[in-house]
Order: sequence, then structure tokens, then C-alpha cells
Amino acid sequence: MAKILVTGGTGYIGSHTTVELIEQGFEVVIVDNLSNSHEWVLDGIEQITGVRPAFEKFDLCDRERVQQLFRDHPDIDAIIHFAAHKSVGESVQKPLKYYRNNLVSLMNLLEAMNDHHIKGMVFSSSCTVYGEPDELPVTEQAPIKKAASPYGNTKQISEEIIEDQLKAVPSLRAISLRYFNPIGAHPTGLIGELPLGEPENLVPYVTQTAIGIRKMLRVFGDDYNTPDGSAIRDYIYVVDLAKAHIVAIRRILEEKQKKNYEVFNLGTGRGVSVFEIIRTFEEVTGVKVNYVVTGRRPGDIEKIWADPSYANRELGWKAESTLGEALLSAWKWEQHYRKNLEKQKA
Ligand code: NAD
Ligand code: WQD
Repeated sequence: MAKILVTGGTGYIGSHTTVELIEQGFEVVIVDNLSNSHEWVLDGIEQITGVRPAFEKFDLCDRERVQQLFRDHPDIDAIIHFAAHKSVGESVQKPLKYYRNNLVSLMNLLEAMNDHHIKGMVFSSSCTVYGEPDELPVTEQAPIKKAASPYGNTKQISEEIIEDQLKAVPSLRAISLRYFNPIGAHPTGLIGELPLGEPENLVPYVTQTAIGIRKMLRVFGDDYNTPDGSAIRDYIYVVDLAKAHIVAIRRILEEKQKKNYEVFNLGTGRGVSVFEIIRTFEEVTGVKVNYVVTGRRPGDIEKIWADPSYANRELGWKAESTLGEALLSAWKWEQHYRKNLEKQKA
């Protein structure tokens, strides 16, 4: 079976994808510098799958170390590249940290891919490349607007770097997957999202408020031009998202691509408001979420959701889970994680 390098594999989406890869019989090597994750995530992966993936802790910005990895693992067939910094707010404060980390790591991998005859790469891109879209739902042909943050700009530039490199070396292959808003956790509750400090994203803020770590969720604006006034996003269950990576990596390995660089939207196709998230969370968990409506968050867009039909058709992949299932899994993870933290402290 093929051997896949998963960068950022102890992170949120990387850990869920590693589980799916192992369950589909792939061999996995994870590289992560643990800048935004923990080594014990490997325990969760092992508990779920019965397999502990190989793990190398280093910074992908270290060019020589990246080359060494491919010398140590000459049988790596392809790469799924999740590793990146992802905080929109921090990227505005520390743009160089984001440009250096997200772009240098990508270039090191693309260079090594060429040097070591690796078949291809699946790259984590984002719906953030579309900015505030003119038309909904958003197709892959929608114009790429000027990025609203240095983080978003790293995703736009990364896609361009990949495209240019693949034009120069047509034997290489890549697929950029533009995720909409990933939420939830593995149904076992053994792995999930681990925000450092106060969460920026909605769903971890909801679960932390529900469990009592945060006093109050702030709803950023109820005066948008949407049915209930709150902003709309396309929330996709992380396990559905992880499964799309397996399809994409197979497409590269089996040389089924239409062209050597392809881009797909990964979303559900359904727009959901902030109030709908709160209401659904309360319905499926029976737990109330304290909230207060505050002003809009600077830089936020009003509404966006995907047209996932190209991915549905071409990849034969579809987001299957309901919003309720995804939110319930996030709640299960929050409870499991907090209980374990308390045990560790005791
Ligand atoms: P995450 O922070 O949980 O995982 C990223 C992992 O990469 C972390 O474990 C971190 O330690 C590691 N990492 C970062 N820089 C590294 C480096 N230089 N060398 C080695 N390891 C490094 O984030 P995530 O939510 O799992 O996101 C994965 C990818 O998906 C990222 O590229 C992110 O930009 C993209 N993405 C995420 C979202 C989202 O909402 N979570 C949405 C769209 C796109
Ligand atoms: C969702 C909605 C908020 C927190 C971000 C990145 C994007 C992509 C996904 C990586 C918005 C509202 C949130 C809170 C709230 N990441 N909200 N109270 O902003 O769509 O996208 O993550 O590529 O690039 O920008 O996600 O989860 O932060 O917000 O009311 O405490 O929830 O205003 O409408 P967002 P989010």
C-alpha cells in the first residue's frame, strides 16, 4: 500500500485524515513541529485505528531537514500538506511569521517532491481565497479577490506557487482543496480541534461556552442582510472533509486527474447562520449556550457557501453528515478532552 507523508498530521484536520488513511490501508508518516498541536494526538489516532503512525518532529521551513526526511523514507509516494499557521487575527499582527512559515515550508516540499520523484501533493487551501463573493453559491471559477488578511494571502500565493511549479515540471501532480468551515470531531471523541487560548472560530467558542470555560458567546452582528441577520457560512464535518483527501490522494496516485493541477471546493452547499448553529447545538445536546449580540467582527464577510457540485461529480465525494451530527461530535470531544485534562491535573 502507498506511503503518504502527512504534514501537520497531529493538527485538527491532519489527525482526522490520518485516521481515514490508516483505515483505508495507507501507511502514514507524520511531520509536525507541534507549534499548534500535541504529541499525544498520536495516542488518539492509535486508539481509534490500532496503528501508531511514524512521527517526525521538525520544522518544515528547515530545507535540509526536509531533504533528509525523503532520504530516510525513500518509499514516500505522495504528500498531503496541512502544516501551516492558520490564525487570521494573528496573521494581521505578525504577517512575516505567516508568510515565512506557510510559504517556505511549501517551497521546501515542492523542491523535495521534484528531487525525490514524489508523485504529487494534496494542498490545504481555503474558501478565504474568494473573499466576499459576488455570486452564491461559489464555484471554483469565482474570481480570487484581494486577500483580506496575510493568512488568506498565503493561501492565494501558495496556490500560485504550486501552479507555477507544476507548469515548470509537468510530471508533478497536485490538487488544491478549498475547505469551507470545518467543524466537529471524530465520533469516538478521541481526537478533535484544539484551539490555543480563546478560540477565534465559532464552534469551539460554542462548546467552550456550553461547558462553562467561557462566560458568553459573542454573536458578531445580527444586522447582516440574511434571513435572521447573522452571518452565513458553509460548515463541513471534519470527517467528511478527511474522506475527500483519500479520494484526492488516490486520484493523484492512480493518475486520474484531468490536468496535473486541479482545484476543488469542499463544502456542503448549504449556508447556515450563526443563530442556526446555536439553535441546532442546543437541540442536539440539550445544553443552553449563553450568548450576547455584539457588533460585527472587522474583516468578516456576510455570507458564503460552496457550490460543491464539481467535487461531487469529479471526485465522487459528497459531504454526508448533518449539522446536528457534526455539532454533537464537537460536544462529545469537548467533554472528553476536559475530563482528561482534569484527570491529568489530579
Ligand atoms: P492545525 O493548526 O490544527 O494543524 C496544522 C498543524 O501544522 C499543527 O499541528 C502545527 O503544529 C503544524 N505546523 C505548522 N507549521 C509547521 C511547520 N513549519 N513545520 C511543521 N509543522 C507545522 O490546523 P488545521 O485546522 O488542521 O488546518 C490544516 C490546514 O488546513 C492548514 O493549512 C489550514 O490553513 C487549512 N485550513 C484550515 C481551515 C480551518 O478552519 N481549520 C479552513 C481552511 C483551510
Ligand atoms: C464563523 C462565523 C463569525 C466566533 C475562518 C477563517 C477562514 C477559514 C475558516 C482557514 C462568522 C461568527 C465567530 C465567535 C461569532 N480558515 N462568530 N462569534 O470567519 O468564516 O473563517 O475560519 O482558512 O479563512 O477566516 O470562521 O468560525 O471564525 O466564524 O459570531 O465568537 O461565526 O462572525 O460569521 P470564518 P469563524
